[in-house]
Amino acid sequence: MAGHEPLTALGLMSGTSLDGIDAAILRTDGERVLCVGAAATVAYDDAFRERLRGVLGDGRATAGETAAVARALTLKHAQAVESLLAKSRAGDPEFPPVDLIGFHGHTIVHRPEGGVTRQIGDGALLARTTGISVVDDFRSRDLAHGGEGAPLAPLYHGALARELERPVAVLNIGGVANVTWIGAGDDILAFDTGPGNALIDDWVRAATGRPMDEDGRLARSGRARGDVVAALLDHPYFRRPPPKSLDRDDFAADAVSHLSPADGAATLTAFTAGAVAAARAFLPAAPLRWLVCGGGRRNRALMAALEDALETAVEPVETVGWLGDALEAQAFAFLAVRSLYGLPLSLPATTGVDRPMVGGTLYKAPGGG
Ligand SMILES: Nc1ncnc2c1ncn2[C@@H]1O[C@H](COP(=O)(O)OP(=O)(O)O)[C@@H](O)[C@H]1O
Ligand SMILES: [Mg+2]
Repeated sequence: MAGHEPLTALGLMSGTSLDGIDAAILRTDGERVLCVGAAATVAYDDAFRERLRGVLGDGRATAGETAAVARALTLKHAQAVESLLAKSRAGDPEFPPVDLIGFHGHTIVHRPEGGVTRQIGDGALLARTTGISVVDDFRSRDLAHGGEGAPLAPLYHGALARELERPVAVLNIGGVANVTWIGAGDDILAFDTGPGNALIDDWVRAATGRPMDEDGRLARSGRARGDVVAALLDHPYFRRPPPKSLDRDDFAADAVSHLSPADGAATLTAFTAGAVAAARAFLPAAPLRWLVCGGGRRNRALMAALEDALETAVEPVETVGWLGDALEAQAFAFLAVRSLYGLPLSLPATTGVDRPMVGGTLYKAPGGG
């Protein structure tokens, strides 16, 4: 079968952890990953992070403030593009120029059961500012056709996993955690498992003023309370079969508010790992290994809790040569190319959409192709 012409795409992701923008370059025909290029993370400064936090949720901020934050966010993405292009040129002057940007934007509301998912970010402005064509709005069409609108990285995980022995599970621990199970054939299943870093981050921030539990140090100095973990896991979400997805704040740290900072961190860490373990009940066959991407793989307490809970090999994706901080951004580069070629971005087994679903909105570069 003749494939599509390979393109070079740059993907941009601003995740629910609110830590910053991940950017990554990929060469792909929309089916296969031909070559992985440079990647970078640009952290948000504290002031912008708080401003972004202020527009999360439904109608908490004025429309004017939300629009102003969307514009500022877009211009920060344009800067991330410029700095990644400079890094790419410096590192590999021969790498083909970028044809297309995949711009996820930042999710401010995700309530699939109400038919609502909203990402802020202005694709037209990004195309004008960078001079490169942009695809944005990856989720709304999936939602309009009965899907959860999330997770969207699974088709990319599937493309990468073709080279691996399967079944394999790719676990992305961002603000929310999501799993992609890839079977020995091309079968795939994906859903959000539960909380990722956001719950731990929020607890640690409230308890210590620090933005995260670096390397899981606080959790490792505490003791997980089994009764609290069990109570937290006794939530209907974990019994619900996939497809299913979560918003950043669907789980709150209230249940540990009576604990010390260290015990609270240990308990929420064990809860997060327990939620991943609960996901196994829905997988068609036990994965040979769990490959972990996203910032959560740097949390040693969480990785240890996962090994405990899953009783199988839990490894950062670097073990198989992938870039754990860039995978989501690469996914949106991949999906931008798929969008351009009219290939599905989601499947019934990844989002619950009623059939394989195309998506994305293209903003052509002014004067460009
Ligand atoms: N060294 C570390 N120790 C513990 N947690 C970390 C570390 N580095 C990153 N993280 C966690 O990863 C998060 C960022 O992960 P990321 O994959 O970017 O998530 P998202 O896609 O939601 O933005 C941070 O907010 C933090 O919770
Ligand atoms: Mg992030």
